[in-house]
Amino acid sequence: MIPNALVKEFRKAKNIVAFTGAGISAESGIPTFRGSGGLWEGYRVEEVASPDGFNTNPVLVWKFYDERRKNIFKAVPNTAHTVLAKLENYYNVWIITQNIDGLHIRAGSTNVIELHGNIWRVRCTSCNYKDINEDVPLKDLPPKCPECGSLLRPDVVWFGEPVYDLEKAFHVAENCDIMMVIGTSAQVYPAAYLPLYAKQHGAIVININPERTPVDDYADFSIHAKATEALSSLYQKLQEAFQEE
Ligand code: APR
Ligand code: ZN
Repeated sequence: MIPNALVKEFRKAKNIVAFTGAGISAESGIPTFRGSGGLWEGYRVEEVASPDGFNTNPVLVWKFYDERRKNIFKAVPNTAHTVLAKLENYYNVWIITQNIDGLHIRAGSTNVIELHGNIWRVRCTSCNYKDINEDVPLKDLPPKCPECGSLLRPDVVWFGEPVYDLEKAFHVAENCDIMMVIGTSAQVYPAAYLPLYAKQHGAIVININPERTPVDDYADFSIHAKATEALSSLYQKLQEAFQEE
């Protein structure tokens, strides 16, 4: 599954970026968005993941997030998350994730850019109030700001909103030797430009996904497997390689 040529690239590399999507958390029991059985199949995206949807029906949106929070609360990081955390023993690693589940941080990764925010944070729709809220289920629906009484919203990025820390993400993508793309359909821009941008700046691009995605058109290595399988094989190969050194 892991070609020797890929191991060779890791032997030379210093800076690694992993750009991750819903697929890396699928094996932790968190559904992906697109495709059959995906989260967007049962919901209208505009209703539950857009500023307009929230203004129209905040209770519906909060119920949707309350359900997701219940599901994510039960989930634990899988081998793919933990291998990425362990790579920090050998490399400068940055994780750029589109996921809001917080599993990379729970797995022990320290440099994590959460482009779409985090489902365990809430923020006020009027003032600057922002806080962690880990109540499962939520106590009041919809929750209100303790400082000004306005509606709180999940601190996540909805359709039509700018993503967080995009400049920082492009900066680390520009400066990496290897860009691993894991479990994303790479359809949501501008984040989906990150691997191409890394490639244009000299990085080796690896796409890990059981399905074909647009990243395969320019990736140096495509591994069509589940994230846990691909990353545990990779880690095993790397450890063998490090022992030889
Ligand atoms: N291992 C690796 N990849 C997997 C696995 C697995 N076990 N299972 C599924 N996948 C892949 C699918 O083949 C698909 O390409 O994960 C990808 C998930 O794609 P999406 O559901 O589109 O999720 P993502 O790319 O993260 O979506 C980006 O879109 O709706 C918004 O804000 C939402 O952050 C999300 C963004
Ligand atoms: Zn407020």
